[in-house]
Amino acid sequence: MEEMAKITIGDETFELPVIVGTEGERAIDIQSLRKRTGLITYDPGFNNTGSCKSAITFMDGENGVLRYRGIPVEQLAEKSTFVETAYLLINGRLPEQKELTRFSVLLNDHSMVHEDMRTFFENFPRGAHPMGILSAMVNALRFFYPQLEGLSETEELDIIVTRLISKVRTMAAMSYKISLGHKVVYPKPDLCYCANFLNMMFDSPVKPYNLDPDFIRALNVLWILHGDHEQNCSTSAVRLVGSARVNLYASISAGISALWGRLHGGANQAVIRMMEEIHAAGGDVKPFVARARDKNDNFRLMGFGHSVYKTYDPRAKIIKKMADTVQAKLDKSDPLLDIARELEEVALKDPYFIDHNLYPNVDFYSGIVMRAMGIPTEMFTVMFAIGRLPGWIAQWKECFDSPRWKLSRPRQIYIGNNVRDYTPIEARTKTML
Ligand code: CMC
Repeated sequence: MEEMAKITIGDETFELPVIVGTEGERAIDIQSLRKRTGLITYDPGFNNTGSCKSAITFMDGENGVLRYRGIPVEQLAEKSTFVETAYLLINGRLPEQKELTRFSVLLNDHSMVHEDMRTFFENFPRGAHPMGILSAMVNALRFFYPQLEGLSETEELDIIVTRLISKVRTMAAMSYKISLGHKVVYPKPDLCYCANFLNMMFDSPVKPYNLDPDFIRALNVLWILHGDHEQNCSTSAVRLVGSARVNLYASISAGISALWGRLHGGANQAVIRMMEEIHAAGGDVKPFVARARDKNDNFRLMGFGHSVYKTYDPRAKIIKKMADTVQAKLDKSDPLLDIARELEEVALKDPYFIDHNLYPNVDFYSGIVMRAMGIPTEMFTVMFAIGRLPGWIAQWKECFDSPRWKLSRPRQIYIGNNVRDYTPIEARTKTML
């Protein structure tokens, strides 16, 4: 029998259905609440609101669990590749060999970027943040590649999806090369997705880049771990913007803009800036931890805390181990890794951090790994965006395939003026404005 929740307002009681997910998560379905009671619900930031039913990603914030399509991220990080995981997220299951080959071929076929788009990169002001550039460029893809006539809906979607995944990687590397004033390196068909990215970033006519299998593997793992994270801020932006029936490129562009923020994906850049500051101040982490718990200081320990995880982020555990592996490849160890380790140790023993359930999140160690690979700090959030792209696409596709994709339209509790008359300008006093 369906479980019901009872809500009493005044002397009337209403029953609302309780819906249960496949992992036993329960939610009160309030869709009929307004019609029956005249009331809406109030949940700033939607932190306790299920905005959709989704079959893509499962998270258990209390126990630090993360699964894509049912498969634990730990297994994917150990055994899968980024391309295979992207297929899994988007299509709902692991590919057979021939499906994976076709997906990889499509990714290769669409990896070039229209030459006219290069002039865009060259005309952004020097120092423009790569996330702003990426968001603009992804939106512009719509105008450069409108020709899909004659294809079935599924073929069209396959092409748009692979085009996006492939071109975003090429554009990211291209924008880096152009920012240096260097010649752009084109994608090579014989390299896999991750190797191609590293090659486009670091190869040059004067200094050929040696592809290191450990770095290629580390990049696969990093992007797998960023693949999806259910209804986070940028994914919700993709779904919300898409619900107005705008094209996929525009929806993803909105996701990239949301991810840029320092409380979200931009935290990976902010973490390294914070650690550089600690390093410059002599390396003592304690004053920074003290500032983070001081309510009169709006400083936060970047890379710590999460809206859903109230324990160690499972992604951070894997990335922390990976930081050691990639560091071992360097001639000189990164002093920021020592600072990160110490900061973690001090914060995890601090009563404020214990009481608030604040643990390292995905961004805490990812910057250390990317630094070791030679990725510049300004590009960190772009790296996050490349990894998150399959998740955004999967979430958008889930909406697109749904027969009842509703226009997102949250409500509010109005707290402004009650009705009042317009006052002519000559009669206005400050209190009337
Ligand atoms: N340092 C110090 N205090 C913190 C921190 C932190 N990093 N994070 C949360 N708090 C405190 C906050 O001050 C508040 O305290 P109180 O209840 O005493 O006023 C309490 O914890 C709850 O914080 P909130 O912002 O109201 O709620 P939240 O749990 O939704 O915050 C967060 C999540 C990610 C915005 C926050 O932890 C934060 O700002 N962290 C630093 C930025 C960061 O690392 N972001 C990356 C998130 S993971 C990658 C991603 O998915 O985007």
